[in-house]
Amino acid sequence: MVRETRLDVADLVYPLFIRPGEGISREVGSMPGVSQHSVDRAAQLCGDVVREGIPAVLLFGLPDSKDSIGSSSWEKDGVVQRALRAIREQAPGLILIVDLCFCEYTDHGHCGVLSEQAGHRTVDNDATLQNLARQAVSLAHAGADIIAPSDMMDGRVGRIRSALDDAGFSHIPILSYAAKFASAFYGPFREAADSAPAFGDRRDYQMDPANGREALREVTLDVDEGADMLMVKPALPYLDVIREARRRFDQPMAAYQVSGEYAMLRAAAANGWIDYEQALMESLISIRRAGADLIITYGARDAARLLREGGHD
Ligand code: PBG
Repeated sequence: MVRETRLDVADLVYPLFIRPGEGISREVGSMPGVSQHSVDRAAQLCGDVVREGIPAVLLFGLPDSKDSIGSSSWEKDGVVQRALRAIREQAPGLILIVDLCFCEYTDHGHCGVLSEQAGHRTVDNDATLQNLARQAVSLAHAGADIIAPSDMMDGRVGRIRSALDDAGFSHIPILSYAAKFASAFYGPFREAADSAPAFGDRRDYQMDPANGREALREVTLDVDEGADMLMVKPALPYLDVIREARRRFDQPMAAYQVSGEYAMLRAAAANGWIDYEQALMESLISIRRAGADLIITYGARDAARLLREGGHD
């Protein structure tokens, strides 16, 4: 009765990796319980996700082919575009959020178009913006409900907003990965999404883990550019940032319990060192307590089951 914070199945978002082929579900080695699914399998699974009461999925694509600019991300029949149509048919009512980025689609694994500036090879921020706009409009055409840019280019929210508006998608909201840190906890994701950078790292465009105030400045920019919902990522190592962002902004606040956070729980549990279910629920309630409204987690289906079984709400 006196519990201050609650977790509800309606707070959860389940991430899905869509791969080419048919009838394929391939488990990700470092993420037990998580698989890459072909479009048909993903659509089937989304039927279960809806029945479990989870309101939304977040889609990532592993394309057939990669190039230097990630052009397969805005093809009409790209892997995520096809998944959107198939899921819509099999799981109407499920909210379809799409991750907008290039690291899964470029042959170099960086989150945009490369350029060389003063001998330093890195992502060309402004050249990447127009491709992000292309990808956003293509995914909206294919039926995405919410566009979630995770690239961390400056100015992307404003640019994506006007591209969506011009294409007749002014009703489609933007969930911005507003404070995304350059984190070691993305390790297993890069196996799951085949998106490890071929050289260097992402510190040119992702946030320094030491800088909470700078991260909030990044959130402010996204709010000013028209972000409808905000995200802090990863979750558990950045609860202070979630708390402060919640205090300063009124937009719905999402937190992403990322691949490494999930993998740690699973790995410790596999060794008998930790109780996975209890640790999962404790971490999720902590993220809610810090101020997140929505939690994106690979444990969403486990959490939904535990909430159903009772004793965990
Ligand atoms: C794409 C992207 C990443 C994640 C979500 N979107 C990887 C990265 O930035 O390297 C990580 C999610 C996770 O670790 O679960 N840019």
